[in-house]
Amino acid sequence: MSHRLAAALAAAGLVTAIAATPASAAPDRHGDKTLGRLAADTHRYFGSATDNPEFSDTAYLGILGSEFNSTTAGNALKWYATEPQQGVFDFTQGDQVLDFARRHHMSFRAHTLVWHNQLPDWLNNGTFTADQLRAILKKHITTVARYYKGKVYSWDVVNEAFNEDGTYRDTIFYRTLGPGYIADALRWAHQADPHAKLYLNDYNIEAIGPKSDAYYNLVKSLKAQHVPIDGVGFQGHLALQYGYPETLQQNLRRFADLGLDVAVTELDIRMYLPADATKLATQADWYARVTKACLAVRRCVGITVWDYTDKYSWIPAVFQGEGAALPYDENLQPKPAYAAIRDALRSAGGR
Ligand code: XIL
Repeated sequence: MSHRLAAALAAAGLVTAIAATPASAAPDRHGDKTLGRLAADTHRYFGSATDNPEFSDTAYLGILGSEFNSTTAGNALKWYATEPQQGVFDFTQGDQVLDFARRHHMSFRAHTLVWHNQLPDWLNNGTFTADQLRAILKKHITTVARYYKGKVYSWDVVNEAFNEDGTYRDTIFYRTLGPGYIADALRWAHQADPHAKLYLNDYNIEAIGPKSDAYYNLVKSLKAQHVPIDGVGFQGHLALQYGYPETLQQNLRRFADLGLDVAVTELDIRMYLPADATKLATQADWYARVTKACLAVRRCVGITVWDYTDKYSWIPAVFQGEGAALPYDENLQPKPAYAAIRDALRSAGGR
């Protein structure tokens, strides 16, 4: 385990299960090490997002808590959930996921403080001056990050700030405050929780291109100005029909070379339905390639799948006719992708 990751996990009270993993770790019920255990052998995490409605599914929770050593709340920490009315904060859902993570010795990626989606109505429908919105943003970040201070491994401070062509996305924050809102958000988050790793996070930045270049230039300039930024999260919402992002490893490395952590934060690999053996084999190969790309870059601290089972994937609701994106099927049975990830982790761990 890297000292930085170990220190952060220790601060979050999560270090024992990961750092103290013995070489002869107990096998899981399939007679094999779990993805989380194999990732820990490489000083990394392998995580799954989860969502509060899923907490009534005990079979689902059994796998979540045993197979993965990190989790992300899929929705519980978004603005609409944490500050549903102005100045009225609600951490019930976030706490439910965090408590589960702590009981199962999983590290916790907190997602997300600033995003243009899933904002509460009062914010979407309000009209605010720059001074008012800056105060609202500062209060939101400060209150939420302080509440979880010392309990989370990382925060996705700003999510999806750029367009595909590398220009700033026209959000309420950019429109009203200008591009400086990103540095402000990072500084406020750092003041509220000095030990949390602070990330910028986005999709379609896996390959080298205009959008990932925009992040590269932004984080370089943020670092030059000593703005607290620890990492970049590559969401990894991939689709078989668009081809594999061949420059992923090279891209992760150029960010790591700036002195940042990198992570694959929301991995899923969708396909047009129905799935068939050929598509599932390609999907498995892509999961292995993403895993190996992360393992090849020392500062790549881990991979998170955007939930682990097709039973709870967000894909079918958003991408019409697509799905089957995750390593477990709708009946919680491992797919070829599961074995491919496990083998990739195992070859790198050398065990
Ligand atoms: C998704 C959730 O999984 C869904 O349940 C919700 O309806 C919409 O948001 N990028 C992100 C995530 O950063 O927060 C999104 O999560 C998926 C895309």
